[in-house]
Amino acid sequence: MPISFEIRPSDHPVPDAERQAVLAAPGFGEHFTDHMATLRWTTEQGWHEARVEPYAPLSLDPATVVFHYAQEFFEGMKAYRQDGGAIVMFRPRWNAARFNRTARRLAAPQLPEDVFVRMLELLVTQEQDWVPSGDGNSLYLRPFMIATQRGLGFTLPSRSYLLCAIASPASYLGGGGTPRPLTVWLSEDYTRAAPGGTGDVKAACNYAPAFAAQQAAVARGCDQVVWLDAAEHVWVEEMGGMNLFFVYAAKDGRHRIMTPALTGTLLPGVTRDSLLHLAPTLGIDVEEGRISVDQWRAECASGELVEVFACGTAATVIPVGAVRSASGDWLVGDGGVGPVTLMLRQSLMDIQYGRAPDPFAWIHKVC
Ligand code: COI
Repeated sequence: MPISFEIRPSDHPVPDAERQAVLAAPGFGEHFTDHMATLRWTTEQGWHEARVEPYAPLSLDPATVVFHYAQEFFEGMKAYRQDGGAIVMFRPRWNAARFNRTARRLAAPQLPEDVFVRMLELLVTQEQDWVPSGDGNSLYLRPFMIATQRGLGFTLPSRSYLLCAIASPASYLGGGGTPRPLTVWLSEDYTRAAPGGTGDVKAACNYAPAFAAQQAAVARGCDQVVWLDAAEHVWVEEMGGMNLFFVYAAKDGRHRIMTPALTGTLLPGVTRDSLLHLAPTLGIDVEEGRISVDQWRAECASGELVEVFACGTAATVIPVGAVRSASGDWLVGDGGVGPVTLMLRQSLMDIQYGRAPDPFAWIHKVC
């Protein structure tokens, strides 16, 4: 039976002036809109009770599975207010498919992709006044699913789940304007993911252990952690919330960008995938390969490697200017923002804000 969402508008929306103040300087993940979408699943009823309802705290029994065994996963997506006034989402089906891949890995139920997209369309339509305008601004969407069964028995996965989607006005992680290059810390002692684990899906359990490494990075004056492979601690994988790209000096007038291949231990990001498609249209060759820490340092020294950038939905495209590690520090290029990074960032943004043609049909109009 098709799932239809009941819309229950809030009686107490945030006052206009307060909302405008948030939209003028949204930051990232600090403010939330008036509504959320919810949908429940049980083994007996399947998906049911679909709603867009007032944003409110969830009430859960302290013995709920999610609190003890971390059966939680999520997506990060954005809705944009385009220059022409339309409100759009970026590749929502891509996220719907990854949400289901994660669900499969965590033994949670599959959600029809159409329902995932419909839920977000309804939430964004309801919250259209919360979508900020202006370069770099968006409404960040965070759909997530939690196991809601009560009980500590660690035998079979939960027999009930809550899917919830919340929305938060956002400027780029790290602020708008020309991005400040990141200084990154190579985590040579902690590991993010190992083969056969959950590193290639968007499970919350990948994020909690990253806080200690992030603390270590901040203590050394760095912004973010770069994770290496679990077996040798040599091969560069990703940055926890972002994928990495390495930009090589032009040969015969063409640059080449390389990103670590999807070996099963790093998260396939939608921005990573989009750049792999977009770059060739801009005359840039792309490669999925691998790079060791020693190679990264040596190729920066030789001038072969000229830029490095990170990418993700929250971060978009953001340069990496300097690397610190237990075995030494080095700069990428002159430590500033490179032209290839800026071109890719701008080209992606031009599609998202409706200023450039959308050759891959990535834009999904909401209202
Ligand atoms: C996103 O980019 O949407 C993410 O999920 C990263 C998050 C850790 C901020």
